[in-house]
Amino acid sequence: MSFETLWADESAIGRSPDTGGYTRGGWSPTEREATHWFLDQCAARGLSVESDGIGNLIAWWGASDGPGVVTGSHLDSVIDGGAFDGPLGVVSALAAVDQLRAEGFEPGVPIGIGAFVEEEGSRFGMPCLGSRVAAGVLSAEKALQLTDRGGVRLSEALEGAGIDPAGVGPSPLLKRMGTFVELHVEQGRGLTAPVGVASSIWPHGRFRFTFGGEANHAGTTLMEDRHDPMLTYAMTALAANKQARLAGARATFGRISVEPNGTNAVPSQVTAWLDARAADTATLESLLAAITKQATERAERDGTTLEVTPESVSPIVDFPAGMRDRLVNVLDGAPVLPTGAGHDAGVFSDAGIPTAMLFVRNPTGISHSPAEYAEMDDCLAGVDALAAVLKDLAQ
Ligand code: GLV
Ligand code: MN
Ligand code: MN
Repeated sequence: MSFETLWADESAIGRSPDTGGYTRGGWSPTEREATHWFLDQCAARGLSVESDGIGNLIAWWGASDGPGVVTGSHLDSVIDGGAFDGPLGVVSALAAVDQLRAEGFEPGVPIGIGAFVEEEGSRFGMPCLGSRVAAGVLSAEKALQLTDRGGVRLSEALEGAGIDPAGVGPSPLLKRMGTFVELHVEQGRGLTAPVGVASSIWPHGRFRFTFGGEANHAGTTLMEDRHDPMLTYAMTALAANKQARLAGARATFGRISVEPNGTNAVPSQVTAWLDARAADTATLESLLAAITKQATERAERDGTTLEVTPESVSPIVDFPAGMRDRLVNVLDGAPVLPTGAGHDAGVFSDAGIPTAMLFVRNPTGISHSPAEYAEMDDCLAGVDALAAVLKDLAQ
């Protein structure tokens, strides 16, 4: 089937009529719909699908055992995200396999198409949840304690999707991942050619800032009598922006929760999540320290409290030079670039699987937004590039 047809089918699933975006949290109805679409596509191609205890999937073309070359990505999204982040890698993998079959290519080792669950962590707060659990870097015990914003536990979400939570844990699928190549839309404006190859993923982390204050009346409480955690938070958000600029890094408060969230009351508590990223670990650590210092000083002035809790930290990933250079070679000297976005490919690389990434040009650089976009010609170049890479790795 052509990439265009597959893409039109897949990208119709769960698109919001209001924003044009997608909200496919792990194991949610829209994410399940996309997953069932994927399973139908695999069945139509006679691929044999293996799943693990948390719901990661690999659909195999070729022999039913032994390590193979795995590609693919994820079908979940951020809240009101774009069409490309994740699904482009899965749909391109199906199209690349179709292309190789049409050419009569016979793989020397199995080729697998993976769909890994809750990569964005938009529902349970933990990025790359499926691959972290699969790789054993997040224990089943910790994973199963996670709850979504509505208080639904991971175990309940799994049961709702027909998955037995007792199976959550390190995944047998990893043993079959001889190599892994993830194709992904580029998420900045760093790529000017249609297709590029990743060098590294910046270290990054999510840190929960809990600002405590004193609830009080908005009309009767003198300004100088307040202990307002919103003020401490507001100054912290400005400090984060300034410190990230000074360090050439990234800092974002994209999510806050206010208690009790009333218009006519000074809040009692503000919880805000900092997403911080930098090109190297030392810069990331000093960025977090600088933001925390300014927030603490401001809390002292405001008479508020501050607690900083790391929710997830992802180390720098330097993709193995051998894999990277092999892809560059196959693709006639495609450009190589780092990324500030996290990926399951980083988790699998850390787990010792020879891993590489292909990027497809993003003309605006916009991502994690309904406006995320790639030109069809570039997506087709991505499919060709992926097919060439699979052919090389699976010969
Ligand atoms: C995932 O795309 C992330 O970088 O947060
Ligand atoms: Mn993403
Ligand atoms: Mn992604």
